[in-house]
Amino acid sequence: MLETIESAPRDAILGLSAAFREDPRPEKINLSVGVYQDENGKTPLLHCVREAEQRLAEAAASKSYLPISGAPEFTEVIQQLALGARHEAITSKRIAGAHTPGGTGALRVAGDFLHANLPNATVWLSEPTWPNHPNVFAAAGVPMKSYPYFDQPSNSLAWEAMIEAIDKIPRGDVILLHGCCHNPTGIDPTVEQWQKIADVVQERGLLPLLDFAYQGFADGIEQDAAGLRALCRPGAELLVCSSFSKNFGLYRERVGALSIIVPSAAAVPAVQSQINRVIRANYSNPPAHGAEIVNYVLRSDSLRSDWETEVATMRNRINGMRQSLVTELKAKGVPGEFGFITEQRGMFSFTGLTKTEVEAIREQHAIYIVGSGRINVAGLTPTNVERVAEAIGAVRG
Ligand code: LMR
Repeated sequence: MLETIESAPRDAILGLSAAFREDPRPEKINLSVGVYQDENGKTPLLHCVREAEQRLAEAAASKSYLPISGAPEFTEVIQQLALGARHEAITSKRIAGAHTPGGTGALRVAGDFLHANLPNATVWLSEPTWPNHPNVFAAAGVPMKSYPYFDQPSNSLAWEAMIEAIDKIPRGDVILLHGCCHNPTGIDPTVEQWQKIADVVQERGLLPLLDFAYQGFADGIEQDAAGLRALCRPGAELLVCSSFSKNFGLYRERVGALSIIVPSAAAVPAVQSQINRVIRANYSNPPAHGAEIVNYVLRSDSLRSDWETEVATMRNRINGMRQSLVTELKAKGVPGEFGFITEQRGMFSFTGLTKTEVEAIREQHAIYIVGSGRINVAGLTPTNVERVAEAIGAVRG
């Protein structure tokens, strides 16, 4: 029965990392997967995380199961981080939620929840979007459509086309928005544009689903929540999928959360029971370790302050490398206007490299870039940025 099964296609992002590991060329550079690296090309263990881990290990009492939705203190503290501790949705107790294995786990629980409870809803994805979004919603059996997001000629947000398209989405459908640091383009709406999006979403009766994986990587921990807070109006409904892979450097610990904001506290128990049903049939209950770290850091004044500093260090280094790349491209006389790279935010930059150029740069220069032309700016270092600029120049001709 199993002999005739055909190979699945390589994953657009993690498949490239696998190919990178197999590449024997010592000069290889990985700009594909969104993992932060420091100026030495290493993915650091944050100081606040190391400290919390040590303290937790000393105090560890039990490895018994967590509840289906995870530790309540974790879901509480991450909701406060996202919305602000005194937000109306929190004080009105109108949030159901769960701690999930990573942001992808949150998206999948959201997908299964939508499939089971809103079977007629289509999820609208930005074009382009993270290549795993369609995988997740297809696996959950949720129909998908897309709305325009990126204007290639100007390398900016296709604002008019986007808002017009959102204004035509049928009532009752779900719109997936990236909370900040849009993946793959690195282009986010302004605060005013978020308000307009929230107006249209409300007028049309759409259900927003916010993928919130990079809080702190654009302009700051508070500032990056502007889109979420614009959407989360009194009485508004909203799904939020959070990830702590990047901002806590906890990639392999798989720490995420799904928060479902409902119109009133009365609606919470039923929604919570449906979230729990999905989780129980999927992975039963979440792994504890990474969430314990996040909870510990966010509840300790000193470690939280260390964390904020460490997030700022990562953000500033990425922004510095954006500037260095543009400077190097100019210095090498690479044809094209690359100033847009410094306008983009977060880990990624949509460079405008074509699929053919991406393939050539991998084959001829051992530089790994996602097929869409997206680079992980956090993979650039003072040592490799010149070679990357040179290689872009070489494939551009
Ligand atoms: C990325 O887009 O590179 C990250 O979100 C990692 C992943 O799982 O794809």
